[in-house]
Parts: sequence; C-alpha cells; structure tokens
Amino acid sequence: MRGIGKHFGAVKALTDVEFSVNEGEVVALIGDNGAGKSTLVKVLAGVHAPDAGTIEFDGEPVEIASPADAQDLGIATVFQDLALCDNLDVVANLWLGRELRSGSTLDEVGMEERTWTLLRELAAKIPSVRIPVASLSGGQRQTVAIARSLIGEPRIIILDEPTAALGVAQTAEVLNLIERLRERGHGVILISHNMADVLAVADRVVVLRLGRNNGVYNVVDVTSETLIAAITGAVDGTGKRPEAGKQRTEEPPESREAKIIPMPTGPRRMPDAADGDE
Ligand SMILES: Nc1ncnc2c1ncn2[C@@H]1O[C@H](COP(=O)(O)OP(=O)(O)OP(=O)(O)O)[C@@H](O)[C@H]1O
Ligand SMILES: [Mg+2]
Repeated sequence: MRGIGKHFGAVKALTDVEFSVNEGEVVALIGDNGAGKSTLVKVLAGVHAPDAGTIEFDGEPVEIASPADAQDLGIATVFQDLALCDNLDVVANLWLGRELRSGSTLDEVGMEERTWTLLRELAAKIPSVRIPVASLSGGQRQTVAIARSLIGEPRIIILDEPTAALGVAQTAEVLNLIERLRERGHGVILISHNMADVLAVADRVVVLRLGRNNGVYNVVDVTSETLIAAITGAVDGTGKRPEAGKQRTEEPPESREAKIIPMPTGPRRMPDAADGDE
C-alpha cells in the first residue's frame, strides 16, 4: 500500500501511509487508539475506499472496491468481534455460505474431515467440531474464526486484536497459531496493543501515529521501550526525537487513553501453549 489517504468528513484518519507484507511474514501494526490501524486494514479488506494512494498485489496494481474483491485476491480478515454464529457448531461456522455439497445434500462428512485437517494443521485444541461454538472458550473461538478465514486458502490474513480479550494460556495458543500461519506461507497482519505479543511473533513492526507512518522496525533489533516511544511520538520514524513544531499540532482526543501493555522484564520467549492445561 503506497501513499494511502482516507478521511471521514473532517477527520483525517490516514495520510500518505505506506504498508507492506510479504509471504511467510508476520507484520505487526501498532499505534495508539485512533491512530488509523483499523482504517488501514479496512482499506485493504475492501471495506473502505481510500481517497488517495495505490495498492499493489504481487507487484500488480489492484483495485479493492469491495470485500468480495479482497476475498478474490486472497485477503481474509478476522475482525475483533469474530462474527461467529454461537448456535451453530464448528463445522457449520467454518463452511457457512460456502458449504460443500454432494448432489442435492450437504456433504457433512467431507466438511467435517476438512475441518479436522485444518484444525490439526493449526495444532488447534478443539474438543469436538460438533458442539455449538457458544460452548467454546475465548481462545478456541478465536481459533475457529482464524480457521474459517483459512477456508479458500487466502494469501494474506488480517487479525484485528486477536488476543485482546484472552487469558495467558489462550493468548499463547493464538500466538502459536500465528506461527503456524507463517510456516504455511501466509502473510499475516497483526494489530495489537500488547508489546509482548508483538515482540514474540512479529518479524516487522509498522507504527502508525495520528494517521501517519511513524517508523518501521525489525523485531530483532527493537525494544518495547522504542516501540512505545514511537507510538506516543517521543521519537519519530527515524528513531529520533522530533524537532519542536515539526510534528503535527493535532493531538488525539483526550478521552482516548493509551492501553499499551509493556513488555514484562526477564528473558523473552514464545509462550508455550502446552504450559497451560485447561
Ligand atoms: N467509519 C468512520 N466514520 C468516521 N470516522 C471514523 C470511522 N472509522 C474511523 N474513524 C476515525 O478515524 C480515526 C482512526 O480510527 P481507527 O479505527 O482506524 O483507529 P485505530 O488505530 O484502529 O484505533 P483503536 O486502537 O482504538 O482500534 C479515528 O479518529 C476515528 O474516529
Ligand atoms: Mg481499531
């Protein structure tokens, strides 16, 4: 995505934003509340039409005018509310609207087999695929939503705050799942406020501040402190303190409070889902 601009009335949600993701790469998109993260991924998902800028896919310019266009290109989104049907079982949720058929009836066996194959590949811990998703835990529901996005083999998967509502063990499960997605060669865009999650799974971190780029960092050579400084504007995109008066004068609305969770101290490691047995 190059030079992306988007305004809602007088609100400039995005100004001249650059963003990219490669195959087999996890890119974290971070920034304060209202920084434009959701708007940027919604432009990519065909929800919002940008006012300015271009999008290239495999080096070719593309126009993503609708969610259907995004789906055709292989861009899948897992929205924060997951949008699952609580009363339906796991299989029905995965195949909703794209059910497999054999003749005039639903191919229940085929759908169930492919559901298990997919969940196994993701190393997902779902007790049964024939129970309503209402009875699954938060992490398991997140897994089902991610598995559903994988039907149709997308190239890019967008995860908007996948761990925001999850506990320690469930967060570890979802982070492991993100690693599986990278191994499978998907490009993953991860929106998160949790620096520990970002540093644990991302390869690259793109920071947005007040609707503009404010730095791109490789996870191997960045600390949680630097990221937080970029989010809050204590440093600009080059890692330097901005000159007085050069920064945008506009301040984020006061009602918005930062919800940045700092990196815990101690050695960094991938949390192991197997640690937390439920
Ligand atoms: N549909 C919309 N109509 C009007 N304004 C909008 C709309 N969507 C977003 N905005 C505005 O655009 C700006 C960026 O919002 P966006 O949702 O992209 O932020 P965000 O980085 O995802 O924040 P958060 O971390 O709180 O989810 C905000 O000022 C927001 O009020
Ligand atoms: Mg958002």
